[in-house]
Amino acid sequence: MKALTPREIVKELDKYIVGQEKAKRAVAIALRNRWRRQQVPANMRDEIVPNNIILIGTTGVGKTEIARRLANLAHAPFIKVEASKFTEVGYVGRDVESIIRDLTDIAVNMVHVEKEKEVASRAEELAQERLLDLLFPGEGLKDRKRTPEAKERYERNRLRLLKKLERGDFEDRELEIEVPEDSFPMMQVFGPMGMEDVGINLKEMISSVIPGSKKRRRMKVSEARTFLIESEIQKLIDHEEVNRIAKERVENNGIVFLDEIDKITDSNGGGAGPDVSREGVQRDLLPIVEGSTVPTKYGLVRTDHILFIAAGAFHVATPSDMIPELQGRFPIRVEMNKLNTDDFIKILTHPKNALIKQYKALLAAEGVELEFNRPAIRAIAAIATEVNNKTENIGARRLHTIMTKLLDDYLFDHFSGKKKKIAITKKIVEEKLAGIAKDQDLSRYIL
Ligand SMILES: Nc1ncnc2c1ncn2[C@@H]1O[C@H](COP(=O)(O)OP(=O)(O)OP(=O)(O)O)[C@@H](O)[C@H]1O
Ligand SMILES: [Mg+2]
Repeated sequence: MKALTPREIVKELDKYIVGQEKAKRAVAIALRNRWRRQQVPANMRDEIVPNNIILIGTTGVGKTEIARRLANLAHAPFIKVEASKFTEVGYVGRDVESIIRDLTDIAVNMVHVEKEKEVASRAEELAQERLLDLLFPGEGLKDRKRTPEAKERYERNRLRLLKKLERGDFEDRELEIEVPEDSFPMMQVFGPMGMEDVGINLKEMISSVIPGSKKRRRMKVSEARTFLIESEIQKLIDHEEVNRIAKERVENNGIVFLDEIDKITDSNGGGAGPDVSREGVQRDLLPIVEGSTVPTKYGLVRTDHILFIAAGAFHVATPSDMIPELQGRFPIRVEMNKLNTDDFIKILTHPKNALIKQYKALLAAEGVELEFNRPAIRAIAAIATEVNNKTENIGARRLHTIMTKLLDDYLFDHFSGKKKKIAITKKIVEEKLAGIAKDQDLSRYIL
Protein backbone atom coordinates (compact mmCIF):
# COMPACT_ATOMS: atom_id res chain seq x y z
CA MET A 1 0.00 0.00 0.00
CA LYS A 2 1.16 3.49 -0.83
CA ALA A 3 2.24 5.59 2.14
CA LEU A 4 0.19 8.77 2.40
CA THR A 5 1.94 12.13 2.47
CA PRO A 6 1.33 14.38 5.47
CA ARG A 7 -0.89 16.62 3.34
CA GLU A 8 -2.98 13.68 2.20
CA ILE A 9 -3.29 12.45 5.76
CA VAL A 10 -4.56 15.82 6.98
CA LYS A 11 -7.03 15.95 4.12
CA GLU A 12 -8.41 12.56 5.11
CA LEU A 13 -8.61 13.51 8.78
CA ASP A 14 -10.50 16.67 7.80
CA LYS A 15 -13.38 14.46 6.75
CA TYR A 16 -13.96 13.48 10.35
CA ILE A 17 -12.34 15.98 12.66
CA VAL A 18 -13.23 19.62 12.88
CA GLY A 19 -10.42 22.07 13.67
CA GLN A 20 -7.44 20.78 15.66
CA GLU A 21 -5.14 21.64 12.77
CA LYS A 22 -1.99 21.44 14.88
CA ALA A 23 -2.82 17.97 16.11
CA LYS A 24 -3.65 16.74 12.62
CA ARG A 25 -0.37 18.08 11.30
CA ALA A 26 1.57 16.48 14.12
CA VAL A 27 0.07 13.02 13.70
CA ALA A 28 0.50 13.28 9.94
CA ILE A 29 4.17 14.07 10.31
CA ALA A 30 4.67 11.35 12.89
CA LEU A 31 3.07 8.77 10.64
CA ARG A 32 5.17 9.85 7.68
CA ASN A 33 8.31 9.95 9.81
CA ARG A 34 7.82 6.37 10.77
CA TRP A 35 7.70 5.45 7.11
CA ARG A 36 10.77 7.62 6.44
CA ARG A 37 12.62 5.95 9.27
CA GLN A 38 11.87 2.56 7.79
CA GLN A 39 13.55 3.64 4.55
CA VAL A 40 16.77 4.64 6.31
CA PRO A 41 19.65 2.10 6.27
CA ALA A 42 19.53 -0.14 9.34
CA ASN A 43 22.64 1.17 11.08
CA MET A 44 21.41 4.77 10.85
CA ARG A 45 17.81 3.85 11.60
CA ASP A 46 18.64 2.78 15.12
CA GLU A 47 20.05 6.22 15.78
CA ILE A 48 16.79 7.93 14.95
CA VAL A 49 14.41 8.09 17.86
CA PRO A 50 10.78 7.42 17.04
CA ASN A 51 8.62 10.53 16.88
CA ASN A 52 5.92 9.76 19.36
CA ILE A 53 3.30 12.32 20.28
CA ILE A 54 1.50 13.64 23.29
CA LEU A 55 -1.90 15.19 22.68
CA ILE A 56 -2.83 17.57 25.45
CA GLY A 57 -6.44 18.58 25.84
CA THR A 58 -9.56 18.33 27.94
CA THR A 59 -12.18 15.69 27.44
CA GLY A 60 -14.19 15.47 24.23
CA VAL A 61 -12.04 17.63 21.95
CA GLY A 62 -11.11 14.83 19.58
CA LYS A 63 -7.94 13.22 20.94
CA THR A 64 -9.11 9.65 20.63
CA GLU A 65 -10.98 10.39 17.42
CA ILE A 66 -7.83 11.68 15.70
CA ALA A 67 -5.79 8.65 16.69
CA ARG A 68 -8.53 6.22 15.70
CA ARG A 69 -9.08 7.83 12.32
CA LEU A 70 -5.37 7.95 11.68
CA ALA A 71 -5.11 4.24 12.33
CA ASN A 72 -8.06 3.61 10.07
CA LEU A 73 -6.69 5.41 7.11
CA ALA A 74 -3.27 3.84 7.54
CA HIS A 75 -4.94 0.40 7.75
CA ALA A 76 -2.97 0.09 10.93
CA PRO A 77 -3.67 -2.24 13.82
CA PHE A 78 -4.79 0.08 16.59
CA ILE A 79 -5.21 -0.31 20.31
CA LYS A 80 -6.34 2.18 22.92
CA VAL A 81 -5.25 1.64 26.50
CA GLU A 82 -5.65 3.72 29.60
CA ALA A 83 -2.14 4.05 30.96
CA SER A 84 -3.64 4.60 34.39
CA LYS A 85 -5.18 1.14 34.46
CA PHE A 86 -1.80 -0.37 35.15
CA THR A 87 -1.80 1.35 38.55
CA GLU A 88 -5.20 0.02 39.51
CA VAL A 89 -5.85 -2.75 41.98
CA GLY A 90 -5.98 -5.96 40.04
CA TYR A 91 -3.72 -4.57 37.39
CA VAL A 92 -0.70 -3.66 39.43
CA GLY A 93 2.12 -5.83 38.34
CA ARG A 94 0.39 -6.81 35.12
CA ASP A 95 3.03 -6.18 32.62
CA VAL A 96 2.60 -3.52 29.99
CA GLU A 97 3.84 -5.93 27.37
CA SER A 98 0.26 -7.22 27.29
CA ILE A 99 -0.51 -4.08 25.24
CA ILE A 100 1.62 -5.44 22.42
CA ARG A 101 0.13 -8.90 22.76
CA ASP A 102 -3.38 -7.48 22.54
CA LEU A 103 -2.37 -5.35 19.57
CA THR A 104 -1.06 -8.47 17.84
CA ASP A 105 -4.35 -10.26 18.47
CA ILE A 106 -6.17 -7.32 16.91
CA ALA A 107 -3.90 -7.46 13.87
CA VAL A 108 -4.49 -11.20 13.48
CA ASN A 109 -8.24 -10.64 13.49
CA MET A 110 -7.85 -7.81 11.03
CA VAL A 111 -5.84 -9.87 8.56
CA HIS A 112 -8.16 -12.81 9.07
CA VAL A 113 -11.16 -10.73 8.07
CA GLU A 114 -9.32 -9.54 4.95
CA LYS A 115 -8.43 -13.09 3.98
CA GLU A 116 -12.00 -14.23 4.59
CA LYS A 117 -13.17 -11.65 2.08
CA GLU A 118 -10.56 -12.81 -0.40
CA VAL A 119 -11.63 -16.44 -0.28
CA ALA A 120 -15.35 -15.89 0.26
CA SER A 121 -16.53 -16.46 -3.29
CA ARG A 122 -14.29 -19.50 -3.76
CA ALA A 123 -15.60 -20.90 -0.47
CA GLU A 124 -19.12 -20.40 -1.69
CA GLU A 125 -18.41 -22.35 -4.88
CA LEU A 126 -16.88 -25.18 -2.90
CA ALA A 127 -19.80 -25.18 -0.50
CA GLN A 128 -22.22 -25.54 -3.42
CA GLU A 129 -20.21 -28.52 -4.68
CA ARG A 130 -20.34 -30.10 -1.27
CA LEU A 131 -24.06 -29.53 -1.08
CA LEU A 132 -24.44 -31.36 -4.37
CA ASP A 133 -22.41 -34.27 -3.05
CA LEU A 134 -24.58 -34.38 0.05
CA LEU A 135 -27.87 -34.04 -1.82
CA PHE A 136 -27.04 -36.60 -4.47
CA PRO A 137 -24.54 -39.00 -2.96
CA GLY A 138 -23.04 -41.30 -5.50
CA GLU A 139 -24.93 -39.66 -8.33
CA GLY A 140 -23.19 -40.67 -11.53
CA LEU A 141 -20.09 -41.68 -9.68
CA LYS A 142 -19.86 -44.94 -11.57
CA ASP A 143 -20.43 -43.16 -14.86
CA ARG A 144 -17.65 -40.72 -14.16
CA LYS A 145 -15.00 -43.39 -14.41
CA ARG A 146 -16.30 -45.19 -17.47
CA THR A 147 -16.29 -44.03 -21.05
CA PRO A 148 -15.70 -40.49 -22.24
CA GLU A 149 -19.39 -40.24 -23.13
CA ALA A 150 -20.43 -41.36 -19.68
CA LYS A 151 -18.05 -38.85 -18.20
CA GLU A 152 -19.55 -36.14 -20.29
CA ARG A 153 -23.02 -37.22 -19.24
CA TYR A 154 -21.93 -37.00 -15.63
CA GLU A 155 -20.55 -33.46 -16.12
CA ARG A 156 -23.73 -32.37 -17.85
CA ASN A 157 -25.93 -33.85 -15.17
CA ARG A 158 -23.90 -32.26 -12.44
CA LEU A 159 -24.05 -28.88 -14.10
CA ARG A 160 -27.81 -29.18 -14.44
CA LEU A 161 -28.17 -29.98 -10.74
CA LEU A 162 -25.84 -27.12 -9.84
CA LYS A 163 -28.02 -24.72 -11.82
CA LYS A 164 -31.08 -25.97 -9.98
CA LEU A 165 -29.30 -25.59 -6.66
CA GLU A 166 -28.28 -22.05 -7.53
CA ARG A 167 -31.81 -21.27 -8.59
CA GLY A 168 -32.94 -22.27 -5.12
CA ASP A 169 -34.86 -25.40 -6.05
CA PHE A 170 -33.45 -27.44 -3.18
CA GLU A 171 -33.37 -24.86 -0.42
CA ASP A 172 -35.95 -26.62 1.73
CA ARG A 173 -34.57 -30.12 1.37
CA GLU A 174 -33.06 -31.57 4.48
CA LEU A 175 -29.68 -33.14 4.85
CA GLU A 176 -27.28 -34.13 7.56
CA ILE A 177 -23.93 -32.49 8.09
CA GLU A 178 -21.24 -32.38 10.70
CA VAL A 179 -21.13 -29.15 12.64
CA PRO A 180 -18.86 -28.00 15.42
CA GLU A 181 -20.25 -28.66 18.87
CA ASP A 182 -21.49 -25.31 20.07
CA SER A 183 -21.31 -25.99 23.76
CA PHE A 184 -17.66 -24.98 23.80
CA PRO A 185 -17.73 -21.48 22.44
CA MET A 186 -20.69 -20.83 24.72
CA MET A 187 -18.79 -21.94 27.76
CA GLN A 188 -16.73 -19.14 29.19
CA VAL A 189 -13.29 -20.28 30.13
CA PHE A 190 -11.55 -18.04 32.58
CA GLY A 191 -7.91 -18.68 33.11
CA PRO A 192 -5.97 -17.55 36.10
CA MET A 193 -4.85 -13.98 35.78
CA GLY A 194 -1.95 -13.57 33.46
CA MET A 195 -2.24 -16.95 31.78
CA GLU A 196 -2.91 -15.38 28.42
CA ASP A 197 0.15 -13.26 28.94
CA VAL A 198 2.48 -16.13 28.31
CA GLY A 199 0.56 -17.05 25.24
CA ILE A 200 -1.55 -19.80 26.70
CA ASN A 201 -5.17 -19.71 25.83
CA LEU A 202 -7.17 -22.17 27.85
CA LYS A 203 -10.05 -22.32 25.41
CA GLU A 204 -7.75 -23.16 22.56
CA MET A 205 -6.00 -25.74 24.68
CA ILE A 206 -9.22 -27.49 25.56
CA SER A 207 -10.52 -27.58 22.03
CA SER A 208 -7.24 -28.99 20.81
CA VAL A 209 -7.32 -31.71 23.45
CA ILE A 210 -10.85 -32.63 22.44
CA PRO A 211 -10.64 -32.30 18.69
CA GLY A 212 -13.72 -34.36 17.89
CA SER A 213 -16.11 -31.85 19.38
CA LYS A 214 -18.38 -32.12 16.37
CA LYS A 215 -21.79 -33.57 15.97
CA ARG A 216 -24.08 -34.51 13.11
CA ARG A 217 -27.19 -32.42 12.65
CA ARG A 218 -30.10 -32.45 10.26
CA MET A 219 -30.92 -29.14 8.68
CA LYS A 220 -32.18 -27.48 5.57
CA VAL A 221 -29.92 -26.79 2.62
CA SER A 222 -30.15 -23.07 3.22
CA GLU A 223 -28.85 -23.43 6.74
CA ALA A 224 -26.26 -26.04 5.87
CA ARG A 225 -24.79 -23.74 3.27
CA THR A 226 -23.78 -21.22 5.93
CA PHE A 227 -21.92 -23.89 7.87
CA LEU A 228 -20.25 -25.30 4.78
CA ILE A 229 -19.09 -21.89 3.58
CA GLU A 230 -17.61 -21.18 6.99
CA SER A 231 -15.79 -24.50 7.04
CA GLU A 232 -14.49 -23.99 3.48
CA ILE A 233 -13.28 -20.52 4.42
CA GLN A 234 -11.33 -21.93 7.34
CA LYS A 235 -9.78 -24.54 5.05
CA LEU A 236 -8.86 -22.02 2.38
CA ILE A 237 -7.19 -19.60 4.75
CA ASP A 238 -3.53 -20.17 5.40
CA HIS A 239 -3.43 -19.44 9.10
CA GLU A 240 0.34 -19.39 9.25
CA GLU A 241 0.36 -16.74 6.59
CA VAL A 242 -2.26 -14.72 8.46
CA ASN A 243 -0.13 -14.78 11.59
CA ARG A 244 2.98 -13.78 9.68
CA ILE A 245 1.32 -10.86 7.93
CA ALA A 246 -0.28 -9.74 11.19
CA LYS A 247 3.02 -9.75 13.01
CA GLU A 248 4.65 -7.72 10.25
CA ARG A 249 1.79 -5.30 10.26
CA VAL A 250 2.06 -4.72 13.98
CA GLU A 251 5.78 -4.16 13.72
CA ASN A 252 5.63 -1.79 10.76
CA ASN A 253 2.25 -0.09 11.14
CA GLY A 254 0.96 -0.62 14.66
CA ILE A 255 -0.41 2.34 16.59
CA VAL A 256 -0.78 2.35 20.36
CA PHE A 257 -2.94 5.06 21.87
CA LEU A 258 -1.93 5.61 25.48
CA ASP A 259 -4.78 7.49 27.06
CA GLU A 260 -4.66 9.20 30.45
CA ILE A 261 -0.90 9.39 30.38
CA ASP A 262 -1.13 12.34 32.78
CA LYS A 263 -2.59 10.02 35.40
CA ILE A 264 0.65 8.11 35.68
CA THR A 265 2.75 11.18 36.34
CA ASP A 266 3.75 12.24 39.78
CA SER A 267 2.50 15.81 39.89
CA ASN A 268 3.30 16.35 43.56
CA GLY A 269 7.01 16.20 43.02
CA GLY A 270 7.65 12.92 44.69
CA GLY A 271 6.06 11.13 47.57
CA ALA A 272 5.02 7.80 48.89
CA GLY A 273 2.07 5.59 48.14
CA PRO A 274 0.53 5.25 44.71
CA ASP A 275 3.11 7.53 43.13
CA VAL A 276 5.69 4.83 43.37
CA SER A 277 3.65 2.50 41.20
CA ARG A 278 2.87 5.30 38.76
CA GLU A 279 6.51 5.90 38.16
CA GLY A 280 6.87 2.16 37.96
CA VAL A 281 4.41 2.08 35.08
CA GLN A 282 6.36 4.78 33.29
CA ARG A 283 9.53 2.73 33.71
CA ASP A 284 7.73 -0.34 32.42
CA LEU A 285 6.53 1.56 29.37
CA LEU A 286 9.98 2.79 28.52
CA PRO A 287 11.34 -0.31 26.78
CA ILE A 288 8.30 -0.92 24.62
CA VAL A 289 8.12 2.72 23.57
CA GLU A 290 11.83 2.77 22.92
CA GLY A 291 11.87 -0.44 20.95
CA SER A 292 12.16 -3.91 22.38
CA THR A 293 11.07 -7.44 21.63
CA VAL A 294 7.88 -8.79 23.12
CA PRO A 295 7.05 -12.50 23.13
CA THR A 296 3.54 -13.22 21.86
CA LYS A 297 1.54 -16.24 20.77
CA TYR A 298 2.63 -15.44 17.24
CA GLY A 299 6.31 -15.14 17.94
CA LEU A 300 8.55 -12.28 18.92
CA VAL A 301 7.24 -8.84 18.03
CA ARG A 302 9.63 -5.92 17.72
CA THR A 303 8.21 -2.61 18.90
CA ASP A 304 10.78 -0.29 17.29
CA HIS A 305 8.44 1.11 14.66
CA ILE A 306 5.19 1.06 16.55
CA LEU A 307 3.77 4.56 16.78
CA PHE A 308 2.77 5.67 20.26
CA ILE A 309 0.29 8.47 20.66
CA ALA A 310 -0.21 9.50 24.24
CA ALA A 311 -3.03 11.71 25.43
CA GLY A 312 -4.08 13.42 28.59
CA ALA A 313 -5.85 16.42 29.99
CA PHE A 314 -2.81 17.50 32.01
CA HIS A 315 -4.92 19.63 34.33
CA VAL A 316 -2.54 19.29 37.24
CA ALA A 317 0.46 17.56 35.85
CA THR A 318 2.47 18.64 32.80
CA PRO A 319 4.47 16.47 30.43
CA SER A 320 7.61 17.59 32.24
CA ASP A 321 6.39 15.67 35.29
CA MET A 322 6.99 12.43 33.48
CA ILE A 323 10.26 10.67 34.07
CA PRO A 324 12.86 12.27 31.79
CA GLU A 325 13.53 9.12 29.79
CA LEU A 326 9.87 8.80 28.86
CA GLN A 327 9.58 12.51 28.05
CA GLY A 328 12.41 12.00 25.60
CA ARG A 329 10.44 9.35 23.77
CA PHE A 330 7.50 11.71 23.24
CA PRO A 331 9.19 14.71 21.66
CA ILE A 332 6.10 16.05 19.94
CA ARG A 333 3.58 17.84 22.14
CA VAL A 334 0.40 19.27 20.80
CA GLU A 335 -2.19 21.26 22.64
CA MET A 336 -5.71 20.67 21.43
CA ASN A 337 -7.96 23.68 20.99
CA LYS A 338 -11.10 24.26 23.00
CA LEU A 339 -14.17 23.85 20.85
CA ASN A 340 -16.45 26.85 20.37
CA THR A 341 -19.93 27.32 18.95
CA ASP A 342 -18.73 27.51 15.36
CA ASP A 343 -16.79 24.27 15.80
CA PHE A 344 -19.91 22.66 17.22
CA ILE A 345 -21.94 23.72 14.20
CA LYS A 346 -19.41 22.04 11.94
CA ILE A 347 -19.17 18.96 14.14
CA LEU A 348 -22.95 18.60 14.00
CA THR A 349 -23.09 18.81 10.24
CA HIS A 350 -19.78 18.33 8.48
CA PRO A 351 -18.02 15.02 9.39
CA LYS A 352 -19.01 11.88 7.53
CA ASN A 353 -20.41 10.53 10.78
CA ALA A 354 -21.86 13.84 11.98
CA LEU A 355 -24.56 13.50 14.63
CA ILE A 356 -27.24 15.11 12.53
CA LYS A 357 -26.49 12.74 9.67
CA GLN A 358 -26.72 9.85 12.10
CA TYR A 359 -30.14 10.87 13.41
CA LYS A 360 -31.41 11.52 9.91
CA ALA A 361 -30.39 8.02 8.92
CA LEU A 362 -31.99 6.53 12.03
CA LEU A 363 -35.33 8.19 11.37
CA ALA A 364 -35.13 7.50 7.65
CA ALA A 365 -35.28 3.85 8.66
CA GLU A 366 -38.81 4.65 9.91
CA GLY A 367 -39.63 6.43 6.68
CA VAL A 368 -39.43 9.80 8.40
CA GLU A 369 -37.53 12.75 7.02
CA LEU A 370 -35.73 14.74 9.69
CA GLU A 371 -34.63 18.27 8.95
CA PHE A 372 -32.76 20.98 10.80
CA ASN A 373 -32.57 24.51 9.52
CA ARG A 374 -29.47 26.67 10.06
CA PRO A 375 -30.85 28.69 12.98
CA ALA A 376 -31.82 25.47 14.75
CA ILE A 377 -28.32 24.06 14.37
CA ARG A 378 -26.78 27.29 15.61
CA ALA A 379 -29.10 27.22 18.61
CA ILE A 380 -28.07 23.65 19.48
CA ALA A 381 -24.40 24.59 19.21
CA ALA A 382 -24.91 27.70 21.33
CA ILE A 383 -26.66 25.74 24.05
CA ALA A 384 -23.85 23.18 24.05
CA THR A 385 -21.32 25.95 24.59
CA GLU A 386 -23.45 27.51 27.32
CA VAL A 387 -23.84 24.27 29.23
CA ASN A 388 -20.15 23.45 28.83
CA ASN A 389 -19.26 26.84 30.29
CA LYS A 390 -21.71 26.68 33.15
CA THR A 391 -21.16 23.13 34.23
CA GLU A 392 -18.35 20.87 33.16
CA ASN A 393 -16.63 21.26 29.82
CA ILE A 394 -17.01 17.89 28.12
CA GLY A 395 -16.35 19.25 24.64
CA ALA A 396 -18.19 17.75 21.70
CA ARG A 397 -19.58 15.02 23.92
CA ARG A 398 -22.08 17.63 25.05
CA LEU A 399 -23.66 17.50 21.63
CA HIS A 400 -24.61 13.88 22.15
CA THR A 401 -26.52 14.55 25.36
CA ILE A 402 -28.21 17.61 23.93
CA MET A 403 -29.30 15.85 20.77
CA THR A 404 -30.78 12.89 22.62
CA LYS A 405 -32.73 15.24 24.86
CA LEU A 406 -33.89 17.34 21.92
CA LEU A 407 -35.06 14.39 19.86
CA ASP A 408 -36.35 12.29 22.73
CA ASP A 409 -40.05 12.69 21.89
CA TYR A 410 -39.57 12.17 18.18
CA LEU A 411 -37.51 9.07 18.78
CA PHE A 412 -40.18 7.71 21.09
CA ASP A 413 -43.21 7.74 18.87
CA HIS A 414 -44.02 11.08 17.34
CA PHE A 415 -44.12 9.61 13.86
CA SER A 416 -46.51 6.80 14.66
CA GLY A 417 -49.14 8.93 12.94
CA LYS A 418 -49.19 10.17 9.39
CA LYS A 419 -46.49 12.76 9.84
CA LYS A 420 -43.62 11.86 7.58
CA LYS A 421 -41.49 14.91 8.05
CA ILE A 422 -40.02 16.55 11.12
CA ALA A 423 -38.56 20.02 10.71
CA ILE A 424 -36.53 21.17 13.67
CA THR A 425 -36.47 24.95 14.00
CA LYS A 426 -34.81 27.33 16.39
CA LYS A 427 -38.13 27.69 18.16
CA ILE A 428 -38.39 23.97 18.82
CA VAL A 429 -34.81 23.82 20.07
CA GLU A 430 -35.46 26.65 22.48
CA GLU A 431 -38.74 25.23 23.71
CA LYS A 432 -37.18 21.90 24.45
CA LEU A 433 -33.79 22.97 25.76
CA ALA A 434 -33.43 26.60 26.68
CA GLY A 435 -35.20 26.24 30.00
CA ILE A 436 -33.03 23.33 31.04
CA ALA A 437 -29.85 25.05 29.90
CA LYS A 438 -30.64 28.17 31.94
CA ASP A 439 -31.05 26.24 35.15
CA GLN A 440 -27.59 25.14 36.21
CA ASP A 441 -28.78 22.29 38.41
CA LEU A 442 -31.16 20.95 35.81
CA SER A 443 -28.62 21.07 33.02
CA ARG A 444 -26.12 19.33 35.22
CA TYR A 445 -28.45 16.37 35.44
CA ILE A 446 -30.15 16.40 32.09
CA LEU A 447 -27.73 17.77 29.54
N1 LIG B 1 -12.76 18.18 16.71
C1 LIG B 1 -13.76 17.29 16.57
N2 LIG B 1 -14.33 17.09 15.36
C2 LIG B 1 -15.33 16.20 15.21
N3 LIG B 1 -15.82 15.45 16.20
C3 LIG B 1 -15.30 15.60 17.42
C4 LIG B 1 -14.25 16.52 17.66
N4 LIG B 1 -13.93 16.46 18.96
C5 LIG B 1 -14.73 15.55 19.51
N5 LIG B 1 -15.56 15.02 18.60
C6 LIG B 1 -16.59 14.01 18.84
O1 LIG B 1 -16.79 13.94 20.25
C7 LIG B 1 -16.71 12.61 20.74
C8 LIG B 1 -15.60 12.48 21.76
O2 LIG B 1 -14.35 12.72 21.15
P1 LIG B 1 -13.03 11.95 21.60
O3 LIG B 1 -13.38 10.56 21.98
O4 LIG B 1 -12.03 12.12 20.55
O5 LIG B 1 -12.66 12.76 22.89
P2 LIG B 1 -11.28 12.81 23.67
O6 LIG B 1 -10.61 14.08 23.33
O7 LIG B 1 -10.52 11.56 23.41
O8 LIG B 1 -11.78 12.87 25.17
P3 LIG B 1 -11.35 12.03 26.48
O9 LIG B 1 -10.22 12.77 27.09
O10 LIG B 1 -12.58 12.06 27.32
O11 LIG B 1 -11.00 10.67 26.03
C9 LIG B 1 -16.54 11.74 19.53
O12 LIG B 1 -17.79 11.18 19.26
C10 LIG B 1 -16.12 12.66 18.41
O13 LIG B 1 -16.74 12.26 17.23
MG1 LIG C 1 -10.41 9.80 24.54
